[in-house]
Amino acid sequence: MKTVIYVKSAEQVLTVKGASLAPKKGKEMSELGIIEHGSVIIEDDRISFVGPDLEATQYLDSLEGPVTTIDASGKVVTPGLVDPHTHLVFAGSREKEFEMRLQGVKYIDILKQGGGILSSTRSTREATLEELVEQSLVRLNRLLEHGVTTVEAKSGYGLTTEDELKQLEAARKLNDIHPVDIVSTFMGAHAVPAEYKEQPDQYVKLVIEEMIPRAATQGLAEFCDVFCEEGVFTVEQSERILEAGKKHGLKPKIHADEIVQLGGAELAAKVGAVSAEHLLQASDEGIRALAQSGTIAVLLPATAFFLMEKPARARKMIEEGVAIALSTDCNPGSSPTQSMPFVMNAACLTMKMTPAEVLTAATINAAHAIGRADQIGSIEVGKKADLVLFEASNYQKLQYNFAVNLVDTVIKNGKIAVQ
Ligand code: NIG
Ligand code: FE
Repeated sequence: MKTVIYVKSAEQVLTVKGASLAPKKGKEMSELGIIEHGSVIIEDDRISFVGPDLEATQYLDSLEGPVTTIDASGKVVTPGLVDPHTHLVFAGSREKEFEMRLQGVKYIDILKQGGGILSSTRSTREATLEELVEQSLVRLNRLLEHGVTTVEAKSGYGLTTEDELKQLEAARKLNDIHPVDIVSTFMGAHAVPAEYKEQPDQYVKLVIEEMIPRAATQGLAEFCDVFCEEGVFTVEQSERILEAGKKHGLKPKIHADEIVQLGGAELAAKVGAVSAEHLLQASDEGIRALAQSGTIAVLLPATAFFLMEKPARARKMIEEGVAIALSTDCNPGSSPTQSMPFVMNAACLTMKMTPAEVLTAATINAAHAIGRADQIGSIEVGKKADLVLFEASNYQKLQYNFAVNLVDTVIKNGKIAVQ
C-alpha cells in the first residue's frame, strides 16, 4: 500500500514551477508560482498533487488507505532547499585563522604561508574514512535542520590520489546513511600541496593523469571543479584540468574570480561549465559571457561576508540575464556555516536580491547547477517529495525575519526528516 502524506492548508505554497528544462534567468527569477491557501499531497516518495485546498480534498477522496496529515496552516511551504556548492567533507577546523583575519591577515596570504586549505589538508589526510564521515555528519545534520534536502560536496582537502578518493568515498557513505542526497564533485585542483610547491605543473599532471581517471572510473564524482585564482591555479592550468575532466565524463564547474579578476568567468563560458562560483571580481565581459553561455552563477554571499569582502554583483548579473543560484560554500576556512536561510538573508541584505529571486536561486536554479532539475527544486507533480514548511505567513517574511531558523518541518523523499 502507498504511503500518503497530506500537507494541508499552507498560507502559501511556493511551487517555483516551470523551469525544469532551463534555469530561470534574469527577470524570470522573480516568478515563483504562489498558491495561496494551498495543499500538497505526497504518495510514497513523489509529489502527486499540488493546488488549492478545495481541490486537494477531492483528490484525497480518490485515494485509498491511511493518510498522515500535516497541518501547514500559518506556514509557507517551499521546495526542499538545494545547496549546490559545499566542501562538506573535511576534518578539523580553523578558528585560529579566523582570528588572524580579524587582525588584518589576508585569507590568500594564510594559504600562501602553508595554512588555509593546506591546514585542512593536513587534518583531512590524518583522518580515517570513519572519522571523516563522523565529523561531516554533524554538518550534514545541520544543513538538513536548516531546510537543505540535496547538497553538492567537493573533495579537495586530500590532494593525493588516495586522500582525494577517501574524501569522495566519505561523501558516498554519507549519501548512503543519511536522508539528504549528496552530489559529488572532484576538486583535486583546490590547492597545490606543499610537496609540489616548486613544481605545480607536476601536480596538475597528477590531477589530470591519475586523479581524474580514478575518480571517474570508480563513479565517485559527477563534476570536476578547480580553484582558478592568482597563486593557486592559472587560467591555462584550469582549462587543461576541466577539459581532462570532460573527457572522463565529469562536468565542469569553476571557482572563478573570487579574489582577483583573472578571467575565470570567461573561462567558465569557454569550457561550457555548468556553473561558475564566487565571481566577486567578475568583469562586465565575464558576466556577459556567462549570460551568453547559459552558465549558472553560483553566488556565495556568506563567504563574502565571512571574508569581509564586497559581495558579487548580483543585480548586474540579473540585468544581463544571468541565472543565479545561491549556496553556503560550507567549508572550514571561508564559510563555516550550514545555514542556507542565512545565505538567503545575506543575498537580500548584501546583494539586494529580492525575496522571490533568492527562493528561485536556492531551489530550481540550484538544482540546475547540480544537474538535478528534472527531479528536485520545484513543487510539481512527479517530482521528488522534498518539501520545507517554514514558520512564516508569507515568503517575504523568510528574509525579513532574518538570522533565525524558521524551519518547522522537512520532508525528504516523502518521509518526515525534521519535525
Ligand atoms: O570556496 N576558494 C576556495 N575554496 C573554498 C575555501 C576553502 C577553504 O578555505 O578551506 C571556497 O571559499
Ligand atoms: Fe568553494
